[in-house]
Amino acid sequence: MNKHSRRDFVKQTSFLAGGIFSAPLIAGATNYHSGAAGTIKIAVVGCGGRGTGATLQALVARPEVTLVAMADAFRDRLDSCYKTLMSEDASDSKGNKVDLKPKIQVPEENKFTGFDAYKKAIALADVVILTTPPGFRPIHFEEAISQGKHVFMEKPVATDPAGVQKVLAAAAIAKEKKLNVVVGLQRHYQNSYRELFKRKDMIGDIVSAQAWWDNDGVWVNKRKYQQTEMEYQMRNWYYFNWLCGDHITEQHIHNIDVINWFKGGYPVKAQGIGGRQVRKGKEYGEIFDHHYVEFHYADGSILNSQCRHIPGTMSKVDELLVGTKGKIFAGAANIVDYKGKVLYQYDTKLENNPYQTEHDELFDAIVKGEYKFADAENGAKSTMTSILGRMATYSGQVIEWDKAINSGLSIQPKVYDWNAAPPTLPNEDGFYPVAVPGKTTY
Ligand SMILES: NC(=O)c1ccc[n+]([C@@H]2O[C@H](COP(=O)([O-])OP(=O)(O)OC[C@H]3O[C@@H](n4cnc5c(N)ncnc54)[C@H](O)[C@@H]3O)[C@@H](O)[C@H]2O)c1
Repeated sequence: MNKHSRRDFVKQTSFLAGGIFSAPLIAGATNYHSGAAGTIKIAVVGCGGRGTGATLQALVARPEVTLVAMADAFRDRLDSCYKTLMSEDASDSKGNKVDLKPKIQVPEENKFTGFDAYKKAIALADVVILTTPPGFRPIHFEEAISQGKHVFMEKPVATDPAGVQKVLAAAAIAKEKKLNVVVGLQRHYQNSYRELFKRKDMIGDIVSAQAWWDNDGVWVNKRKYQQTEMEYQMRNWYYFNWLCGDHITEQHIHNIDVINWFKGGYPVKAQGIGGRQVRKGKEYGEIFDHHYVEFHYADGSILNSQCRHIPGTMSKVDELLVGTKGKIFAGAANIVDYKGKVLYQYDTKLENNPYQTEHDELFDAIVKGEYKFADAENGAKSTMTSILGRMATYSGQVIEWDKAINSGLSIQPKVYDWNAAPPTLPNEDGFYPVAVPGKTTY
């Protein structure tokens, strides 16, 4: 059992959205975790690429961290994650070989598969790593917080407004219970961004911004013989909105979130254009291959956001903030005035691996009994921003934040079962319905 409820914490005052509380809360006692003395038990839910990476980063973050349970929808994914972590080739973020075997204590009975696997794995841990496709994050996060666990969860944290609301509700409970929650919007844990953020006033008021996630796109998992429709969509999850949220949510959230962070708020409305120019095959499910969105903030400033998955086009993943006195170029890690004078240049030799820092700081806080991280609210609101963008490009309408977040829109299946029907189904030729601006209403 987690012992957080016995902690006597100093009341916290303020925090940076998605970052660290300005004044860490110090626990009255030494243990903020359970199990044998000096052990922090972790469980991973979603044993794919990021689940494997995040578990490795958690294990090397502190000597106390031990992996005790694993959960995945599929046994083969769980096994390959276990094999990678147990491998003699495992290495840390600096490329040094690490022997994780003594820290991996996952007997067969602690390896769980299927849609309910998460509940059993979460029960065995002090800290859970939630790294499934984002459609499941709200139910997994809600369960972790209800069971009183600290959480590292990947972005995005939902794929629809109903999921965002679920995460916001659980985030409030996490705060009451003083459970640390880190969200994998790792730019908040990256030295260059943190240094730029400290100096953001050098550019005066932020009047506009640009954000890009333009590249070739990602993997495709083709349909296999005798797969049910549910299994096929779960294996090829990137292309189905209930699982992925479209790439504006799944990837471009990183850049949109940076603008929200520096603006200190979230847009009040959005409008945009998008479609699928090259992503025409049935294996691409229902998502677009490009979105361009104007996000309007309450002060009248606008974020011009673009994301594109089209091979052979310009690649750019970056953010630019335009202020009354100058500009912040996130990728170049500098601040420049309107005469072209460089006001600040971050020394990129000091850059860290933010994926590792997320875990170093989270587990450091847990070991010290500190309540330091409450990223879920910002994670949910930045997720909502990206969903707002998708609703705007799919519908071709101006979408208002308040209406969208309170719309109750859920695109999740009614039943999670390998033989159940997912919310979107192919026609007789195997093609899925795709949003048509002007006709699609969400
Ligand atoms: N912060 C970053 O830069 C970053 C980078 C990569 C991925 N991610 C995020 O990590 C998440 C996972 O991405 P990935 O690349 O690891 O995908 P992946 O497909 O490699 O892994 C997802 C795993 O979750 C499993 N899974 C699916 N549904 C499940 C369920 N209901 N219960 C348990 N397991 C389930 C899948 O079988 C799979 O093994 C996504 O949200 C993604 O956006 C973040």
